[in-house]
Amino acid sequence: MQHFLAISDLSSQELNQLVDLAIDLKREWRSGGNDPILESKVLAMVFQKPSLRTRVSFDMAMRHLGGDALYLSPNEIGFGKREAISDVSRVLSGYVDAIMARVFAHDHILELAEYASVPVINGLSDFNHPCQALADVLTIKERFGSFDDLRVAFIGDGNNVAVSLLHSCALLGMDFVIATPEGYQLPRQAVEIAEDLSSDAPISIEELQDPEEAARGAHVIYTDTWVSMGQEEETKRRLEVFPPFQVNQELLGVADNGAIVMHCLPAHRGEEITDDVADGPQSAIFPQAENRMHAQKAVLVELLS
Ligand code: CP
Ligand code: NVA
Repeated sequence: MQHFLAISDLSSQELNQLVDLAIDLKREWRSGGNDPILESKVLAMVFQKPSLRTRVSFDMAMRHLGGDALYLSPNEIGFGKREAISDVSRVLSGYVDAIMARVFAHDHILELAEYASVPVINGLSDFNHPCQALADVLTIKERFGSFDDLRVAFIGDGNNVAVSLLHSCALLGMDFVIATPEGYQLPRQAVEIAEDLSSDAPISIEELQDPEEAARGAHVIYTDTWVSMGQEEETKRRLEVFPPFQVNQELLGVADNGAIVMHCLPAHRGEEITDDVADGPQSAIFPQAENRMHAQKAVLVELLS
């Protein structure tokens, strides 16, 4: 693995190995701490958008592994504005051992990787969110023991989080169903990639507009904000269209009895998810958030040790 830019860059075996490495590193951390295998390594964290989980979990992951992380805020670098991305990439490559970046246009993370001589990690783009998906599948494996015979239902916007989750399902053999309003479906290209990925062990990919049909019998009910970062101007329209796609007790009632509820966070309580579901017995959202740190440790170890 040279960079970590997309789940779809991995083979099924590589994704399984990352999940298993994350499980080992989590166990090691829980039983007294990680070995400092990234001692003297430094990760630059470039953010063009806000973050709680990505920023803190990467920083703590580096500290636990004996390394360090530098936070570079949206105001600092002026990605592609103050300075060309290709220049930022080559300059940072001379100072640090790896670069994690959260960007708007997906092309920007690709450009960063093209010019970097150190590993680049995608901390979210407008197209995908592979670090999130790795934590998601780690959480699913912990809860269900394996990926066999699972149906994952994504309810809401066909966004960056949905794309990486779909690609993970395709690689790991979990059926995927999404319910979105008309006009907010997954990008066609993302579905085509998933179909190619799943060709060895084909999964079922369903794109629906009825949340109840999608949730019926599902083992994982996943939702995310209706207005992703960068879409703020569309807020009014989106808040009119999305309410039937709320994950609430009624919708959860049609899922499998043992279903878990997932959300990448930040949650907009009362919009895409109700408090009783987010805080209820089937919610996995806080362990899922913690798993960002464990999953990313696996990526860092794979890229840097
Ligand atoms: N889920 C996630 O990426 O959270 P942040 O935006 O807080 O990093
Ligand atoms: N889809 C959301 C995810 C936030 C972690 C966004 O891009 O804003």
